[in-house]
Amino acid sequence: MYKYSKLTNSIKQLIQNGELYPHQKLPSLRDQVQRTGLSLMTVLNAYQELEAQGIIYSIEKSGYFVAPTSAKVEKQINLNTQIEINSLVFDYLQATQSAHIPLGSPFPSNDILNPPKLTQILGQISRNPANYQIQHFSGNPELKKLIAQRYTMQGIPTQADDIVITSGCLDALNLALQALTKPGDYILLQQTIFYGAWQIAEKLGLKVVTIPENSQTGFDLDAFEQAIQQYPIKVCWFMLNCHNPLGFTVSEEIKARIGELLDQYQIYLIEDDVYEELYYRGQKPSSMKTYDKGNWVLHCSSFSKTLGANFRIGWVHAGQFADHIQHLQLMSTISANPLIQKALVEFISNHHYEKHLRKLRRTLEKNKKTFFANLRQSLPACCVIENHQSGYFLWINLPEQVDSMQVYQSLLKENISVSPSALFSVGQSQKNGLRINCSFEWTDEIERSINKVVNTIQTAI
Ligand SMILES: Cc1ncc(COP(=O)(O)O)c(C=O)c1O
Repeated sequence: MYKYSKLTNSIKQLIQNGELYPHQKLPSLRDQVQRTGLSLMTVLNAYQELEAQGIIYSIEKSGYFVAPTSAKVEKQINLNTQIEINSLVFDYLQATQSAHIPLGSPFPSNDILNPPKLTQILGQISRNPANYQIQHFSGNPELKKLIAQRYTMQGIPTQADDIVITSGCLDALNLALQALTKPGDYILLQQTIFYGAWQIAEKLGLKVVTIPENSQTGFDLDAFEQAIQQYPIKVCWFMLNCHNPLGFTVSEEIKARIGELLDQYQIYLIEDDVYEELYYRGQKPSSMKTYDKGNWVLHCSSFSKTLGANFRIGWVHAGQFADHIQHLQLMSTISANPLIQKALVEFISNHHYEKHLRKLRRTLEKNKKTFFANLRQSLPACCVIENHQSGYFLWINLPEQVDSMQVYQSLLKENISVSPSALFSVGQSQKNGLRINCSFEWTDEIERSINKVVNTIQTAI
């Protein structure tokens, strides 16, 4: 089969699945070269072939678009009432912790976290016993004020009392979902999503409806609308910025439309935005709070991906639910660590955080670029890598015949961890692949491990 035929087939498949819809713009030739690693000539041949078959059309100086079809596309909306993912996640986290090369780790490399200035501040304030005392259950008032200011600076007017400080983002997400649901309620997730969402749904006894991803835009608005018309959804839980594990960031237009639909159908959204600061350049992508007309959005984040998960400090912008969430917190962790909150106040208010973020973004961009170049060069073209301009994950789409779980298990025997797709979806999923943590400095050891990942995949094809 010619190389361009593989690309034409995969685009046809996306159109058939409804992931590409009529009049949608295809990636530019250069973007497609970036995504697939194919040459410009091969991509051009594929597009011209599809155009000749009437499957796509071109507009001069604008690009290529999907041709209209008469067939109505039914979206793959799934309902999952039995969720059992917790044991798999537990085993995976243990294996990742002990693997020598943690390419499956959810955390950025330790070498780029724990800024020395923060540990120095911690050392200083830890000498005063008063700093260990919990004075405010909902969090250090100064830290809440600093976080509220950050929202306000993004154009989201926020009061300190809208914020509840939690023990990491997972705690924030847990409390938010618990506050908004009771067992048996319907919630809506993206089909591929951070395993924490599945774990919490399992724990709370919720029914989970899922919508498929759109491979071009990240988020399928049609499927979203169909799902909320079809099921009595109470809460959505989405990741729209630097999605884990796939990496995409949804456009502002799509976010605005999601905001309108939430308001129209009166549905709450828990937004998991834990990677919000890890964009590489330009403006920070908006949170859904920007498009939240009726206070439907609870925005959850933390310092875990920027300073270190060991600090266990996160928050929820809970608005009218702040009190309720605080009551729930009193029945679980009581309060987030007061000493670390105090250290963060000093660290942020003296501008060390912004400085650290700028350096972190540059390092992550550089490291991921190196991983991508090496993987793209050595993986066969049938393994499409999803590479986006934020965060520290690359997602490798594997051909159907490759069992990503088996690749994961074989690599563990070599002391290398990766994250297989089974961790991120339950039941039927379109995704078969691996998430690779690219936050590490490129060393000979990392290069050997990446070679092993590539060899294991090649053997399985
Ligand atoms: C998407 C996503 N949300 C939430 C969390 C949990 O963050 P935290 O360590 O702050 O609890 C993680 C951690 O891996 C994550 O990847």
